[in-house]
Amino acid sequence: MNKHNILTRAERYNGYMSRDELEWLVDRATETTAGCRWCEIGVLHGRSLVAVGLAMLGRSTLVSIDLRWGSQESAGLTAHNAFAEIAWQNPHLQLVAQKADSAAAAGLYADELFDVVFIDGAHELEAVRRDLAAWMPKLKPGGLLAGHDFKTWPGVTQAVKEIVPAAENPAGSIWCWRKGESH
Ligand SMILES: C[S@@+](CC[C@H](N)C(=O)[O-])C[C@H]1O[C@@H](n2cnc3c(N)ncnc32)[C@H](O)[C@@H]1O
Repeated sequence: MNKHNILTRAERYNGYMSRDELEWLVDRATETTAGCRWCEIGVLHGRSLVAVGLAMLGRSTLVSIDLRWGSQESAGLTAHNAFAEIAWQNPHLQLVAQKADSAAAAGLYADELFDVVFIDGAHELEAVRRDLAAWMPKLKPGGLLAGHDFKTWPGVTQAVKEIVPAAENPAGSIWCWRKGESH
């Protein structure tokens, strides 16, 4: 599916990701190769999940974690619709849905397992510190750690500046950092 169609489909789901932020996610997901493991924390109705899930190459894995996975609805669409849409359009992608607290869920995964971890869960300072502490070890060396609401949510901004001060701000309120670069 081309980028325009992916973005149009993602934007049917309500959420807080702007067009340029979704484009950044689609570009990163399109760059992945088979076997990639991507984890998204904070799914809500599935806006960013659809952007990534439709752009990733098949025979990869997309893990989605939310405390309220699938129980939030807007305009008749939920994460269940997002999940079904991705499964239908990208049948070789292995999809995982976890209704769980993000930091607790991290304990279920081996260290250095993921190529990408995208954090868009709770935005309060202590919660973001907790997510960063729990998820940074789960990222492969050279893997991409990123998240949303940098500079728009004080808790996100402060935690990212404290823990990953080398993080960049490539689009909108997206922050990102590649593991292996200095923090
Ligand atoms: C800003 S929304 C995610 C937006 C989504 N990425 C999008 O594209 O629209 C944040 C989500 O994080 C979830 N959340 C909040 N605290 C959490 C926690 N401790 N563990 C897992 N998910 C959490 C909320 O239920 C909510 O759905």
